[in-house]
Amino acid sequence: MTVKRVGIVGSGIMGSGIAEIAAKTGHEVVLRSRHQETADAMVAGLEKSLGKQVEKGRLSEEDRQGTLSRVTATSDLGELAACDLVIESIVEDLTAKRHLFNELDRICGDATIIATNTSTLPVIDLAMETGRPSKVCGVHFFNPAPVMSLVEIVRPLTADDETISEVRAFAEACGKTPVEVKDQAGFIVNALLFPYLNNAVRLLEGGVASRDDIDEAMKGGCNFPMGPLALLDLVGLDTSLAIIEALYAEFRDPNYAPVPLLKRMVAAEQLGRKSGKGFYDYSKK
Ligand SMILES: NC(=O)c1ccc[n+]([C@@H]2O[C@H](COP(=O)([O-])OP(=O)(O)OC[C@H]3O[C@@H](n4cnc5c(N)ncnc54)[C@H](O)[C@@H]3O)[C@@H](O)[C@H]2O)c1
Repeated sequence: MTVKRVGIVGSGIMGSGIAEIAAKTGHEVVLRSRHQETADAMVAGLEKSLGKQVEKGRLSEEDRQGTLSRVTATSDLGELAACDLVIESIVEDLTAKRHLFNELDRICGDATIIATNTSTLPVIDLAMETGRPSKVCGVHFFNPAPVMSLVEIVRPLTADDETISEVRAFAEACGKTPVEVKDQAGFIVNALLFPYLNNAVRLLEGGVASRDDIDEAMKGGCNFPMGPLALLDLVGLDTSLAIIEALYAEFRDPNYAPVPLLKRMVAAEQLGRKSGKGFYDYSKK
C-alpha cells in the first residue's frame, strides 16, 4: 500500500501545517475539525498561505489550485473511513486522544494506519485503545510543519514493520527526513529540547537575566535561530507545559518539573503567539 489519502484530525497549528504539506506533495487530504466553521477557517488560512507563496514566486498558480483541490474540510469523523493513513493532531491530552483513537478505530477501514502527532505522550496507550495496535505509531512533525524537515517516526512495542515503513515512506513523500525512535517520553528532540526550555523559564523566574538577554544569549552564544522564550511562544505554552509534565511523569527527574511561572502563564491563558501574548506581546502584530 502507498498512502494516497490522508485524514488529519485537529485543525490547530500542527493539523493545518500537516494538511498543507501533505496536500502540496500530492496527497488527498481530509481535514476534520470538531466544528465546520473551524474546518472552513483552516481552508481559508491555507488559501491565504498558498496565495502568499504564489506572490513570492515560490509556488505556481497551477500548484496552488491543485493543492486546494486536494483538501476537503469536514466536521464528520465518518469521512475519514476510507483514508490509508489518519494522523491525530488534537490537544496534547491523553484522555482526549484516547477517546479519539477509540472512535477512529470503530470508523476507519481495517487497512487504515492510525498515527499520532503527539509530542511526548505514550503512543502505546493510544495503540491499546484500538483493535489494531500493530497499525498504530507516532508521526511527529515539527513546527511549522511545511518548513521543518524532520519527522520522528515513533515505534510502540506493538507496531509492525509494515506500518513503520508505510509511515516512513509517507514522511519521505512529504519531502521530510524521517528518523525512527522508540516510544519513550520526548522521543529524541523533545527529550533534549524541553529541559532546556524549562530551564530558560527558571532563569527568567529567578531574575538571573531578562527575557531579551536570555533569548539574545542563546542566539548569539549557540547560534540558535531563535531564543528559548520566543520558541516557547511559537510552540504554545499550554502544549509546552503538557510536554514537560509528560517528561516529568515518565522520568521523575526534578530537572523536568515544570517551572511555576510556566504553569501560572498557562493558567492566565498567556499561551504565546496563538493567544496574542506569552513571553512576548503579539497583539499589535
Ligand atoms: N505546537 C507545536 O510546536 C507542536 C509540534 C509538534 C507536535 N505538536 C503536537 O501536535 C498536537 C496538536 O498541537 P497544536 O500545537 O496544533 O495545538 P493547538 O492548540 O493549535 O490545536 C489543538 C486542536 O485540538 C482541538 N481540540 C482540543 N480539545 C479537543 C478534544 N477534546 N477533542 C478533539 N479536538 C480537540 C482544538 O480545537 C484545536 O483544533 C499536540 O499533540 C502537540 O503536542 C505540537
